[in-house]
Amino acid sequence: MSPKSALLVAPKAQSSSAPASSGHAINLAELLAALSHALDLTEGQPEGHCKRACWIGTHIAMEMGQSGQALSDVYFATLLKDLGCSSNAARICELYLADDISFKRDFKTIDGSLSAALRFVLDKTGLQSGFSERVRAILNILRNGGQIARELIETRCHRGADIAAKMRFSPEVQDGIRWLDEHWDGSGKPEGRAGINIPLPSRIALAAQVADIFHSEGGRKAARAELSARRDTWFDPAVVDAFLAAEARPGFWDTVEGHSLDSSLFGLPPALGSTAIDEDLLDDIAAAFADVIDAKSPFTAGHSRRVTLFTDMIAEEMGLQPSHRQWLRRAALLHDIGKLAVSNQILDKPGKPADDEWKAIRSHPAHSADILRQVAAFRHFAEIAGAHHERLDGKGYPHGLVANQIGIEVRMLTVADVFDALTADRPYRNAMPVEAAFAILDRDVGSAFDGECVAALKRATARLADSTTAEATAQPLR
Ligand SMILES: [Fe+2]
Ligand SMILES: [Fe+2]
Repeated sequence: MSPKSALLVAPKAQSSSAPASSGHAINLAELLAALSHALDLTEGQPEGHCKRACWIGTHIAMEMGQSGQALSDVYFATLLKDLGCSSNAARICELYLADDISFKRDFKTIDGSLSAALRFVLDKTGLQSGFSERVRAILNILRNGGQIARELIETRCHRGADIAAKMRFSPEVQDGIRWLDEHWDGSGKPEGRAGINIPLPSRIALAAQVADIFHSEGGRKAARAELSARRDTWFDPAVVDAFLAAEARPGFWDTVEGHSLDSSLFGLPPALGSTAIDEDLLDDIAAAFADVIDAKSPFTAGHSRRVTLFTDMIAEEMGLQPSHRQWLRRAALLHDIGKLAVSNQILDKPGKPADDEWKAIRSHPAHSADILRQVAAFRHFAEIAGAHHERLDGKGYPHGLVANQIGIEVRMLTVADVFDALTADRPYRNAMPVEAAFAILDRDVGSAFDGECVAALKRATARLADSTTAEATAQPLR
């Protein structure tokens, strides 16, 4: 069904009610595996990388005799190893003057030696920049390379561990993500931990990551060769031996390469043992992924959460039922998830984007819909999230929908999104006062925005301002 012909929810909010989730039990492993596609996009990895790494890592762990909770920790640490991936994207662009997504993808395929790393930096840094700018960037990296790499990895891994904590994962899963880039011989980052001071889930997740990347690039032989070559340096020898034993078993690579990966992954003991998700956990997972989205760019910090608040204020004001508001909040939290597929070199560019860059920016709502459509629990609002840049007059994007194709939820989300963009600080201007933001929204009521939604947001913000003033005057003078 094309997005244009898709029936969006009818624009009569008061009569509309929808399930907060898809109505049947949702398995944690299935939900996170589907969302891991967004992490693959940020890392520039081929779709399914996190899932394949999870399959490889879990088999390494089983080969090492892990079971029960310990096996589950490896399963989820490997599946979610890239949770912090968006947090260093802006910094990579700034330091290397490069597209963060292709930079990250290519960096993982070098052989791990210092000379290869150096060659990579010289080859990749500032390819599209002026000569002096490029020289300056390279000199900075050569002088401060160790510190820069440590900082980038620390940000990424700690942020990933924090997000896993928000999803209520165990300290073992959090630490598995936190110490992902440490190496067996102490040459890793950020702390230079060595040997068994690196948690086992981290040791396995790193080996599984490298195995999948080299397998994707060069096949089974390349994966075997790379892990064997880094045995005792990057990797725990016991982990490499377990990998070699696991990959020699019949069906191991066939599953990685074939179409049955999902069902095989969800048939592993940690997935079968993972509990069904309740509505509260679903909220927490949506909020945690909103943090992944907002960490992508310093200019959008807090954007998804604020848009969620404004959308919910409008929805409450317009009388939506609590369960309807609950899933609309999730749509608002995840509306920009497609931005993970767009390079920060484009997203954070000061000034006017070039034509191809503008095309990439305009693709992000369609990416949002594509990602959410793959997640059973979020599929019912994929089209709503994907339509948040549409306008009533058909001049929006990505599909140029017109008023009768734009449901009330999209109209609420659109007003909330623009209101936040106007009232938040931007690199080129300070936050706009609320009155000025409403004047801009009013100007485009009927052409871009729904008048009822704008009026609802005005009433809700006025009420909020009144209660804040009342609260302040009720405080005793000191
Ligand atoms: Fe957007
Ligand atoms: Fe947005």
